[in-house]
Amino acid sequence: MNGHSFHIKTYGCQMNVNDTDIVRAVLLEKGFVEAPSEEKATIWLTNTCAIRDKAEQKVVQRLQGLRKRKQQQHSKKVVGVLGCMAERLQENLLQEQMADLVVGPDAYRDLPRLLDELLLPEHPISTAMNVQLSLDETYEDIVPVRDASSPTPFSAFVSIQRGCSNRCSFCIVPFTRGQERSRPLESIVAEVTQLLEEDNLKEVVLLGQNVNSYHDRSEAALEARPLAATPGLSNEGFRNRVRRPTQGGYTFVDLVERIADLSPELRVRFTSPHPKDYPTELLHCMAERPNVCNQLHLPAQSGSTSMLKRMKRGYSREAYLQLIDTVHSIIPDVALSSDFIAGFCGETEEEHRDTVSLLEQVEYEQAFLFAYSLRQKTHAHRALQDNVPAPIKQERLQELIDTFRNRVHAKNERVEVGKLRLVLVEGPSKRQQTTEGSSEATWHGRTDQNKRILFPVHVNPMDQGRALVVGDEVALQTLAATTASVTARSTTSLVPGDYAVVEVTEAKGHTLRGRVLWKTTLAKFASMNETVLSKIGENEMECFKQQLRIV
Ligand code: SF4
Ligand code: F3S
Repeated sequence: MNGHSFHIKTYGCQMNVNDTDIVRAVLLEKGFVEAPSEEKATIWLTNTCAIRDKAEQKVVQRLQGLRKRKQQQHSKKVVGVLGCMAERLQENLLQEQMADLVVGPDAYRDLPRLLDELLLPEHPISTAMNVQLSLDETYEDIVPVRDASSPTPFSAFVSIQRGCSNRCSFCIVPFTRGQERSRPLESIVAEVTQLLEEDNLKEVVLLGQNVNSYHDRSEAALEARPLAATPGLSNEGFRNRVRRPTQGGYTFVDLVERIADLSPELRVRFTSPHPKDYPTELLHCMAERPNVCNQLHLPAQSGSTSMLKRMKRGYSREAYLQLIDTVHSIIPDVALSSDFIAGFCGETEEEHRDTVSLLEQVEYEQAFLFAYSLRQKTHAHRALQDNVPAPIKQERLQELIDTFRNRVHAKNERVEVGKLRLVLVEGPSKRQQTTEGSSEATWHGRTDQNKRILFPVHVNPMDQGRALVVGDEVALQTLAATTASVTARSTTSLVPGDYAVVEVTEAKGHTLRGRVLWKTTLAKFASMNETVLSKIGENEMECFKQQLRIV
């Protein structure tokens, strides 16, 4: 037990959040202890993101602050930089005295050794670095140790794939995270099984930089399925930038099916995908399995074919729209999200207008919109010119934001209001805390489509962790069978991690508001959807809803 204490601050995407859990596991295993606060720690680690200059500037400010504090304090402190900035800037971080320790995303197993070198008094070394990228590191045997203070312990991110080989011309990720590689399927299944057994898991988000290009070609996978054919691309208009094996092993669809089969009560989501890897097998799997969520991320980046070519995305606007049509025809109740970049190299007004019109046409439920930020090492840095003036980038970004907001509000009003949604309850909404002594509170949760929904509940003031709701499926089944009015009411209590049926009553931007009707399970709701809900008429349902009042 070495007893040195550490603290980690995380920036960037979900992969980084998950990597922090891996770092925590590696350090705890070697006898390091996690400090309750930064102040109390000897080792100050920052897991960083390099996607945009703005993201890096935040980290730089933090590192400057840490350096100052380190100088003021007399006890020995280690400032460590992990993640994508560590990989991008490497020894520059040491030379500029921003850090004592620099470790890239594929070298976390080496952290204890490097820290020992820095901390042991008999080894007077002041800096250490390992930024070696790997062709096969997936940390498959390390069980991540999650942050104990998570407000949603029933939901977990599980990393299934690392790196990206696509090299879109704007993107730094292939340089900070290395080439694509997939974690063996059996180790993922084992991790999720353990989480189901120990943590009452209700939602798993499968993670990867190119999550849906997952392909387990480990020895075991090839032995188990030597002849399995790999599903093709999304449609004819998409292409791979790297040659892919077409036979053998486990694909993303195989993995999603295996994980979905582990428990009918487990919601399965995944991020972040590439639009090229949505074969119809995957779409059918999502449509047919009630616990694989009807939520798809389809990062377009631009709505203009000429721009997509400069971005080296491997598809045209037409192919992308064709895919959207296919998705809608197979999964009618799907929610779509996307990423867009405003003001990429040489963007003309016409190309920008194409992006605006794509946002209008598709009506995404969620969009991640950013102004372009030039990154060294990328194709754009070598071969294109970052020539859209900053104010124009901002103007165009604002137009994309406004277009998205207007559309999402109108769409939610049109599509969501009046619907009964299955909601995974997350508990009290942070912004709308219960007033002291009051039994009324606002809780929130997520629909299958990953939309946040707020709903009022009554809680016991002595036990704010439970909400009371009236009604259950038994009453609804009775109603469906007899169409008689429901007189018997049962009261049940709802806790975070439960599923409930919530009627959507209002749309506010991309947040919904609703009324909780009854507690349920994912499997019951799915079977009711098909049998009971389709049998009862609107009038009976209205009568039932009126009777289900919150106590
Ligand atoms: Fe970056 Fe393109 Fe890979 Fe996505 S697919 S991580 S945008 S290189
Ligand atoms: Fe940032 Fe690296 Fe993720 S660049 S977005 S932390 S992959």
